[in-house]
Amino acid sequence: MSTRPELQAPPEIFYNDSEALKSLKYTSSSRIVEIQAKLSERALELLALPDDDVPRFLLYIGCGSGLSGETISEYGHQWIGLDISSSMVNVAVEREVEGDLLLGDMGQGLGLRAGVIDGAISISAVQVWVSSRNRPRKMQRTNKNGKRREWVLRKKEQSRRKGNDVPADSKYTARKRKSRF
Ligand SMILES: C[S@@+](CC[C@H](N)C(=O)[O-])C[C@H]1O[C@@H](n2cnc3c(N)ncnc32)[C@H](O)[C@@H]1O
Repeated sequence: MSTRPELQAPPEIFYNDSEALKSLKYTSSSRIVEIQAKLSERALELLALPDDDVPRFLLYIGCGSGLSGETISEYGHQWIGLDISSSMVNVAVEREVEGDLLLGDMGQGLGLRAGVIDGAISISAVQVWVSSRNRPRKMQRTNKNGKRREWVLRKKEQSRRKGNDVPADSKYTARKRKSRF
C-alpha cells in the first residue's frame, strides 16, 4: 500500500482481489503487523475507555483483513468490522478474526442505533475517505471526460462504417474546448 489508494480508484475497486492477495502478504509481514498493533493500541488509548475491565463493543471502520481487530480482542473487547471491499472482508474471514464483519460503505451511514457501540476505531480508512471526499469534482470530471470520449469515439466509428470521411482519432478527440481560443 505504498501509493495513496484514494488517488487511484474507489476503494471497492482498488481493494480488488489482487490487492487483497497483496494484503495477505501484508498481514504476514511482521513489521507491518507490529506497526498496526502499535497504531491500534494508540487508537484504543485515544478512545479513553473506562479502566474497569468491562469489555466494550467497538466498531472497526475499514477493518480490511482485520489486523487491528486482533489488538482489540487482546484488550478483551468485542468488535464488529465494517469494510467496503468484499475481497478484504474475505481475507478477514479466512484469517478467522474474532469480530463479526459487515460489508458496507462508511459514507452511506452505519445503520446502528444510538448507544449500541461504545466506540469506534479506524486505521487509515476514515482519513482516506475524508481526503477523497475533498476531491470529488476532479474525480467526477475524469469520469465524465472518459465517458464523453468513449461516446465520441463510438459515434466516429459508426460514421466511418457508413463511409463518411471522419478525421483520425487523436489525444485531442472529445477534449472540451474553452469558449474562446
Ligand atoms: C489501509 S486499509 C486498512 C487495512 C486494515 N487496517 C487491515 O488490517 O487490513 C483501508 C481499508 O479501508 C477500507 N475502506 C476504504 N474506504 C471505505 C469506505 N468508504 N467504507 C468502508 N471501508 C472502506 C478499504 O477497503 C481497506 O480495507
